[in-house]
Amino acid sequence: MRRGRAFSLVALVGLLVAAAAAVALTPAAWAQSAPPLGGRVGVHEGVASCAGSSCHSRPVASGLVVRQNELITWQDPHSDAGAHSRAWRALTQPRAQAITTRLGLGPAQAASACLGCHTDPAAGGQRGARFQVSDGVGCEACHGGSGGWIASHYAMGASHAGNVSRGLIALDDPKARAARCLDCHFGGPGATQFVTHQMMAAGHPRLTFELDLFTSLQKHHDIDADYLSRHKTSAGAVKTWAVGQAMALDRSLTLFGTRNPSGAFPEFVFFDCQSCHRTITEDAKPKLTVEDNPGRPIPLGAPPFNDENMIMLSAAAKVAAPGLSAKFEAESRGFHQALAQNGGVSAQRAAALAATSLGLAAAFEARSFSHADTLAIFQAVLSGEGARRYTDFAGTSQAVMAADTLLNALVAQGAIDRAAAARIRPDLDRAYQAVRDPNVFRPAEARAALQQVADKVRALK
Ligand code: HEC
Ligand code: HEC
Ligand code: HEC
Ligand code: HEC
Repeated sequence: MRRGRAFSLVALVGLLVAAAAAVALTPAAWAQSAPPLGGRVGVHEGVASCAGSSCHSRPVASGLVVRQNELITWQDPHSDAGAHSRAWRALTQPRAQAITTRLGLGPAQAASACLGCHTDPAAGGQRGARFQVSDGVGCEACHGGSGGWIASHYAMGASHAGNVSRGLIALDDPKARAARCLDCHFGGPGATQFVTHQMMAAGHPRLTFELDLFTSLQKHHDIDADYLSRHKTSAGAVKTWAVGQAMALDRSLTLFGTRNPSGAFPEFVFFDCQSCHRTITEDAKPKLTVEDNPGRPIPLGAPPFNDENMIMLSAAAKVAAPGLSAKFEAESRGFHQALAQNGGVSAQRAAALAATSLGLAAAFEARSFSHADTLAIFQAVLSGEGARRYTDFAGTSQAVMAADTLLNALVAQGAIDRAAAARIRPDLDRAYQAVRDPNVFRPAEARAALQQVADKVRALK
């Protein structure tokens, strides 16, 4: 599990400088080769169309409307920020080849089962002349096909709403962003955007995601006065985190509903990996690793549904959507129970819980999260009743990421100062250590470290 970001948000806030007034960019490079616009809405024109030193590949940030060095960040060979530009290349590496060889899929860089997430999944007919599969997850894989807006989005008088009406994805909206990221960081509706248990058994890494943390890791934009003047939403870290949890649970339940073949076994990726992948002991007095989990009333020996997002949502709902909290609690417990009892769960039950998750996403989106909300969610995630649910790797990892995101948010909101947060960091680092490797996962240590973090923040008040 990756280490968190170190207060990049704080540095950013400090750097807020009034950006220059809306200056029309002069995309000479694009203008020279621009195809006619008509009928190009939705066409993915390719990363090369966004390049150019007066467009998005300036060597250094411009300090003007947008940074204009987004492409350089997207290509950064040394950090997670450049991961998307490497996504297709990863398929040419031995690890990927070994996976597709085991699955009998031929070369990975040509396997549709891999390309849906390791490249821009635009359909053949939607690819412009400069579209290159080898660009990996290019700009338009997230921002949407630019055919309808590339020639106009920088012009005087262009508006965000206008761009969106021509096919730009409103990634400033946390729900729209979550939906986009989850297509690849959990799974999408299409056949080519899903990592099955079989692929994992063949060597694909497990997928981890938290919307706010992962946004920071690949960030190439500034939320400054200019950004806001263009009527773009600044949801803030806590809302982004909460909406991200709700959208992730909705996605997992929706796909669980559609991806379960009727057969002896369901698709295993929806369950807690370590519940099956443990070492068995034959000792007379076995020291079992299974722990009681109060949020998951299922019999010993039954594989638990991976409830990482349910645990986070439960904490967030109590504070930020109290009207839906009891319903969510009852439905998620009922879901676990039904799954364990019938070896299956009715489609209606999964759909009802998915609908409640979407209700939570809407409630979070409508709320403005105060310092008090953030502090209350922080405590609800890290300590008390909710923390007794950190018995398995995925849930605990999600809690550690939440602690990181929320601690940064508390600093950014001015609720705790930077020096105090720095003194709490070592405890958070111990929590990260405890979830570094699923095979040597130390739940008690993680819980103790998270409790320390919670106690220290509480003591600051
Ligand atoms: C649902 C989207 C999705 C599909 C489908 C998918 N992957 Fe991935 N893959 C990812 C994501 C996301 C990561 C990054 C995981 C992480 O580290 O969080 C990844 C990581 C990898 C890695 C490790 C990359 C590295 O830089 O270390 C390899 C190798 C890989 N995938 C190969 C494949 C192959 C081969 C296929 C097809 C059989 C495939 N993937 C299908 C989403 C997907
Ligand atoms: C993994 C998804 C992803 C990819 C790939 C991606 N972006 Fe972004 N980009 C975002 C997100 C999320 C934001 C912040 C939300 C927003 O303002 O739309 C953003 C913001 C931006 C902004 C700032 C917008 C503003 O109004 O200030 C620009 C410009 C931009 N991206 C350009 C690019 C370019 C050029 C590429 C390709 C080289 C690219 N992006 C690739 C996700 C992505
Ligand atoms: C079209 C598929 C796709 C979309 C959409 C997408 N990603 Fe990714 N992302 C990937 C793949 C594949 C990797 C792994 C690449 C590798 O390691 O080779 C990755 C890697 C990352 C990484 C680097 C850390 C890691 O897990 O390897 C971050 C951070 C990230 N994505 C954030 C985001 C965010 C935030 C969004 C939404 C704004 C998003 N991604 C949308 C496919 C996608
Ligand atoms: C319901 C039980 C169950 C769950 C849950 C489960 N697996 Fe598996 N896994 C299995 C079985 C059964 C095999 C096949 C073992 C064999 O072929 O001997 C397997 C095989 C594997 C293998 C290949 C192991 C080897 O040594 O060759 C990997 C890797 C793997 N699973 C990863 C995962 C990951 C990652 C998750 C969670 C996303 C997961 N599994 C969830 C039951 C499970």
